[in-house]
Amino acid sequence: MPNAHPDRNLALELVRVTEAAALGAARWIGKGQKESADQAAVDGMHAILESVRMDGTVVIGEGEKDEAPMLHNGERVGDGSQPEVDIAVDPLEGTRLCALGMPNALAVIALSDRGSMFDPGPCVYMEKMAGGGHIADLLDLDRPLGKTVELIAERRQVEINDVMVVMLDRPRHEKAMQEVRDAGARVRLITDGDVAGVLLAVSERTPVDLLWGVGGTPEGVISATAVKCMGGAQIGRLWPRTDEERRAAVDAGYDLERVLTHDDLVGSEDCFFSATGVTDGDVLQGVRYEGARGATTESLVMRTRSGTVRRVHAVHDRSKLRALVGGRFG
Ligand code: FBP
Repeated sequence: MPNAHPDRNLALELVRVTEAAALGAARWIGKGQKESADQAAVDGMHAILESVRMDGTVVIGEGEKDEAPMLHNGERVGDGSQPEVDIAVDPLEGTRLCALGMPNALAVIALSDRGSMFDPGPCVYMEKMAGGGHIADLLDLDRPLGKTVELIAERRQVEINDVMVVMLDRPRHEKAMQEVRDAGARVRLITDGDVAGVLLAVSERTPVDLLWGVGGTPEGVISATAVKCMGGAQIGRLWPRTDEERRAAVDAGYDLERVLTHDDLVGSEDCFFSATGVTDGDVLQGVRYEGARGATTESLVMRTRSGTVRRVHAVHDRSKLRALVGGRFG
């Protein structure tokens, strides 16, 4: 049977998947237990994914089968009907953010035609840069960052002090951070969550112009899907941490010099992305409990083909959810 393209209904079903993950994780906000928070998000996501009408293969999941009993790489999810799709999941993006009650923890899923998602293999990290469509041609991983922020100021016709770069707060970023500051631009440091960082950088009407930094390759593929839906641009280059990782990547056929665009990371023009806020953040409001029964969620639901970006605000009846699927959603 020919592969039917994912249709509009699928996009709207995915929001239920990230809502379930967020509702599960939210019970663990601030409790200092990131594994439990992540497990609750995985359980919630898995429970709903089973009912989605698709034949999905997890390309980016919670890890290899041995260590991840659910949503592991290669797992088939969905009810097995058409369309055939690749799936990248991050049930809890920012496990530490959730455990510490800090902003910007998200539940995220990305989906595209079968065979179109970049498989990071042994490559854990990637150097990434992302920004809005108006600066897409200025993204360059080889030009000094200080020069790039100058070019952004010129393009935007603003003072260099108006330019802001978001980056993960990591010792490996110290030199780049100094370059940005020396050029006169500003840095917004985030402790975790560079998917939210990319969303901030590519969205209009945020104070952030650019994301730069070395972060997770899986997160890079997920955010590339979001960029393809929202507009803007993202580039990346694999960044092995050790000689052993470098060797493993080269042996597996990865080109470590290659600059990958968002189209290289997700080679389909029919992709979907859904993110639901777990904790309150710059991009999305987190799960809120209202009275004894209710909870609200906010999600961003997007599709490449139509370019539709929806914000979905949902009110959940916790007692009814519990009756349907047990205690999973708090
Ligand atoms: P987790 O949700 O798996 O904890 O990942 C959070 C995150 O901050 C990602 O957003 C980022 O890409 C990656 O970790 C950075 O890795 P590291 O913490 O090892 O620098």
